[in-house]
Amino acid sequence: MFSKVLLTSALCAIAFASPILPYNSEAAQRPAEMKVLSEYFSMLGHKVQAGKQMSQAPMCNLNNAVLPVASPTPLPAPSQGLLLKHVAIGRGIQNYTCSQTNASAAPVNIGAVATLYNSTCVASTYPDLLAVLPNVALQFNLTSSDQSTLSPSNLAISGHHFFANATTPTFNLNTTAMDLGFAPCAKNNSIPAPAGSPVGQGGQGYGAVAWLKLIARDDATGNLQEAYRVNTAGGNPPATCAGMPATFEIQYAAE
Ligand SMILES: *[C@@H]1O[C@H](CO)[C@@H](O)[C@H](O)[C@H]1NC(C)=O
Ligand SMILES: *[C@@H]1O[C@H](CO)[C@@H](O)[C@H](O)[C@H]1NC(C)=O
Ligand SMILES: *[C@@H]1O[C@H](CO)[C@@H](O)[C@H](O)[C@H]1NC(C)=O
Ligand SMILES: *[C@@H]1O[C@H](CO)[C@@H](O)[C@H](O)[C@H]1NC(C)=O
Ligand SMILES: *[C@@H]1O[C@H](CO)[C@@H](O)[C@H](O)[C@H]1NC(C)=O
Ligand SMILES: *[C@@H]1O[C@H](CO)[C@@H](O)[C@H](O)[C@H]1NC(C)=O
Ligand SMILES: *[C@@H]1O[C@H](CO)[C@@H](O)[C@H](O)[C@H]1NC(C)=O
Repeated sequence: MFSKVLLTSALCAIAFASPILPYNSEAAQRPAEMKVLSEYFSMLGHKVQAGKQMSQAPMCNLNNAVLPVASPTPLPAPSQGLLLKHVAIGRGIQNYTCSQTNASAAPVNIGAVATLYNSTCVASTYPDLLAVLPNVALQFNLTSSDQSTLSPSNLAISGHHFFANATTPTFNLNTTAMDLGFAPCAKNNSIPAPAGSPVGQGGQGYGAVAWLKLIARDDATGNLQEAYRVNTAGGNPPATCAGMPATFEIQYAAE
């Protein structure tokens, strides 16, 4: 009984409860976006079928979640003795500035803003589905009126990501649902997103932002210590400032 309830909530956490998608018919006709979505829904369909046949429903146990490892060069592993506390899909924008006098200069990243959606249940039951969620989420823009769930799923907000200053990526995981803590971080390590990572919306874009390991600064609360940004989708700027405005943003998503 208990496990059946959990299965239902695991699957519902992924989809179904969002009857109105903020997806215009114009976008729906773009083949690259439709391909991403049809793969997603086909994977979901298989999970539902598999779930019906399971005598033991999967449990939402964070011990079953796995940190994706990039090859050939992985990020450093989490430090000894740490426990995984939360998994989220982040959906937002990377901000850049561009020289207006030097077209061959590279854009400069000045931070990011993202809304975090609770994916702990997906992470512990269906890691393959979790891995495609950033690309699926990237195909939908957050609307300013309703960011409470992540389209096309009903994953709920579990926090916010922003830059407190240029070198302090920050995670606020203190929401009305739960206070997991507040973590100003510093970059510890960065590797390029693996080949084949989603480049941007509709398969158009400049590539996926790097995978990162961040370490919480001393003033973090909730005993939060390390954060990883993996399975990135989009977010990279063009190689040069040619034709770009002084400031611009690029849509991205990540786990
Ligand atoms: C323009 O940017 C390029 C690439 O960073 C650099 O090599 C070059 O020196 C810059 N030119 C000027 C005039 O600053
Ligand atoms: C990035 O852009 C967003 C939206 O324009 C803005 O709200 C945010 O403050 C910007 N962040 C930084 C670090 O510039
Ligand atoms: C999302 O918003 C950006 C502007 O930031 C726009 O260029 C893009 O077309 C929008 N994408 C979708 C799928 O609505
Ligand atoms: C995330 O979702 C799980 C499963 O529904 C729940 O147990 C957990 O409390 C949620 N975490 C946050 C931070 O909302
Ligand atoms: C950014 O914030 C961090 C943490 O508060 C602080 O240690 C650092 O000195 C700040 N950097 C700048 C350039 O202000
Ligand atoms: C979490 O947020 C609540 C409400 O805003 C606040 O009262 C509380 O102090 C916050 N907790 C931490 C550790 O910052
Ligand atoms: C990254 O973290 C490791 C382990 O805490 C530390 O030894 C190393 O100096 C850090 N590197 C950077 C660039 O922060």
